[in-house]
Amino acid sequence: MIGLSGKAKLAGIMAWPVGHSLSPRLHGYWLDHYGIDGTYIPLGVEPSDIEQVLKALPKMGFAGLNVSVPHKEAVMAHMDHVDDNAKRIGAVNTIVFDQAGKKYGSNTDGYGFIQNILARYKDWDFASGPAVVLGAGGAARAVCVALLDAGAPEIRLLNRTRERADVLASQIEGPMCVEAWEDRHEALAGASLVVNTSSLGMVGQPPLEIILDDLPQSALVTDIVYAPLKTGLLNQAALRSNPVVDGIGMLLHQARPGFKAWFGHDPEVTLAQRDHVLAAL
Ligand code: ATR
Repeated sequence: MIGLSGKAKLAGIMAWPVGHSLSPRLHGYWLDHYGIDGTYIPLGVEPSDIEQVLKALPKMGFAGLNVSVPHKEAVMAHMDHVDDNAKRIGAVNTIVFDQAGKKYGSNTDGYGFIQNILARYKDWDFASGPAVVLGAGGAARAVCVALLDAGAPEIRLLNRTRERADVLASQIEGPMCVEAWEDRHEALAGASLVVNTSSLGMVGQPPLEIILDDLPQSALVTDIVYAPLKTGLLNQAALRSNPVVDGIGMLLHQARPGFKAWFGHDPEVTLAQRDHVLAAL
């Protein structure tokens, strides 16, 4: 599509800072690919301005927004409706404005996490055994809720700051079991899935030090870190022939429900789109 018409649909991502966000690139790919009269723009918004911006955007014809760090929790207070999943996670990453300007908040991070795994292993059975979740930040919260909803019989949650894991486990109803960060190697015994939601292993961060000896070879290993794409954890797991799933697909899949709501087309995550997004890393 060359240029926009006066009827172009508008959406974007609100974050602070926003310059690093890959969302304009991944939505831009879909808009171009499907020839949609619309645009998706980066919105760098300081925390003190979110209320004003959320009031103004529907009046300017925006269809909705993605929300990223540090606004995911704070925007909840400004929604007219927050769905149950986002309430449980305690954060909103997708907002839809209706014709009257009412704001509907949801959270698609857990959906993206699950869909990313199913895109690679379509029959993966999340109920087949305990899941080990490393980290207890915002991403861990979405991942734990999604795993429980997908049928995980037990989640072993381990975080450097144990109190944070205790709080997360107490807030999310379900079979959550907090273990000490130092015991992460042994916690892998009998697990059917392991996910790193901490920032360890990311470019510029320390490596994730973990010994996989006790992990069954059938266990799926995934990382929400996608820079680098092949993290130390994933390399270690691949070397011992565990199934592995990298993290970029979680970003791509979490974007689908918003795109569909704003632009009216259910988009497909493809290798070409993935390559287009990865080229920016
Ligand atoms: P997000 O919202 O993306 O999950 P976050 O809330 O900043 O980000 O969480 C980062 C996670 O990485 C946390 O679990 C953090 O552990 P703490 O709660 O103890 O801070 C974890 N993390 C960051 N650096 C770490 C390190 N050097 N060792 C172990 N865990 C680390």
